[in-house]
Amino acid sequence: MSISKQNDAWDESELNRAASLARELRAGAGADLHLIAVRAPGRVNLIGEHTDYSGLPVLPVAIDRSTIVVAAPTQPREVSLDNSDHAYPHREFALARKIPPYATGDWANYVKAAVQGVIDHFETRGFDISKARGVRLFVDGRVPAAAGLSSSAALTVSSALAFMSVNGLELPAIETATMVARSEWYVGTMAGGMDQAASLLGQRDHALFIEFNPLRAKPVKMPPDAALVVADSGEIADKSGKVRAEYNRRVVECRLAARLLARELKLGEVRVLGDVVHKVKNWNSSALVEALKYASPERLNPDLVQAAGLLDMSRDELARELLDDSRIVLDSRPLEIVKRARHVLSETERVLQAVVALEAGQLDNMGTLMNGSHQSLTEDFECSTARLDRMIECARRAGALGARLTGAGFGGSIVALCRSPDAEKVIAALDAEYYSPLRLEPARAVLHASPGASRIELAAA
Ligand code: GLA
Repeated sequence: MSISKQNDAWDESELNRAASLARELRAGAGADLHLIAVRAPGRVNLIGEHTDYSGLPVLPVAIDRSTIVVAAPTQPREVSLDNSDHAYPHREFALARKIPPYATGDWANYVKAAVQGVIDHFETRGFDISKARGVRLFVDGRVPAAAGLSSSAALTVSSALAFMSVNGLELPAIETATMVARSEWYVGTMAGGMDQAASLLGQRDHALFIEFNPLRAKPVKMPPDAALVVADSGEIADKSGKVRAEYNRRVVECRLAARLLARELKLGEVRVLGDVVHKVKNWNSSALVEALKYASPERLNPDLVQAAGLLDMSRDELARELLDDSRIVLDSRPLEIVKRARHVLSETERVLQAVVALEAGQLDNMGTLMNGSHQSLTEDFECSTARLDRMIECARRAGALGARLTGAGFGGSIVALCRSPDAEKVIAALDAEYYSPLRLEPARAVLHASPGASRIELAAA
């Protein structure tokens, strides 16, 4: 068997991983099988946290940790799944117009989400599901799971591309990103589109300035003297449990803030804070937050009756607009309106400044913006944890120019920006002051900006 290296996005170890998955697939199904391999990277977000689902920009980097999926055609209308990590058991499901999800937390739901996304997109463009080719997928994921580094997006992106490939379906990367962006909704998280866009559109040595509605991305060169230390706290940030409830609550709070602001400023119809920002000329976060304080108490009752009263609409109408998934249930804590909006709006200003800082190679400024982001995430968005804060303090003391939680928070990883020669000092400090006292296996590395997802063909023997 030979692998033709059609794409220099793949490094040697990724090609070897694909070859080993291919060997196992062929062992079961025949040496002459024509196979496709897809690699999709995870991402680390530099700044712009919890802004994407408000339609506001983000600045992530696709990382050199990837998921590889090798795919072969199989029985019509059947998807069969294996994972090289046996913690993720074999799964099979039938292709259908509406694929029912497995129980919450099942790894294969991300693959179902991807396939469902492809079906929804291409059905309206003439794809006949009754003629769809089934696909056998073999997965090797090396993006750490539940660590805030988008292992789920790496899996959905690679599965979507593999399923499309076997069925001869083509789509430009930017449209694929839009298509798979909603895939997490399938698993019940009202997530934005950052992770999938970063995984698909990443570029070597570049961060991506991503904007939404419509999705677009501009590469921003990483200064050559910058190093990114990414360290996993070991606190599970698993979006199928508590984190999902907290995440969805934040989405609702931000949507409410957008509507209350629009009413106060007479902006007409808006859905998200991004719509507000686009309608207000020369906006700034402080002025918008002041306007919001005028429009609403700091926090509102979660039954939405009070909010509906402020917005002059019925409670049910508001609930329908805010919670477009009936699985979303708000618990009895009040909804924070002002704090959440202050984070999202000030974070957007920081993202715009971060692009300027990175482009000018001003690492100190970039670090300061990252520190500001973390403070806002801690105080206003309330999604950090004591352990993340401890790691961040440690990284800064050891010489990081800036450090913050990355991803949804509530556990997961931190990212620390360092001058390259200082990265080893930051790693040593994390080992000595964080991992060792907790008796945790160190889970930190210098990660590099890597290319986005791509596909190669694996010729038969
Ligand atoms: C998760 C979501 C993203 C984004 C981040 C927070 O990673 O999947 O869409 O909202 O959280 O910035």
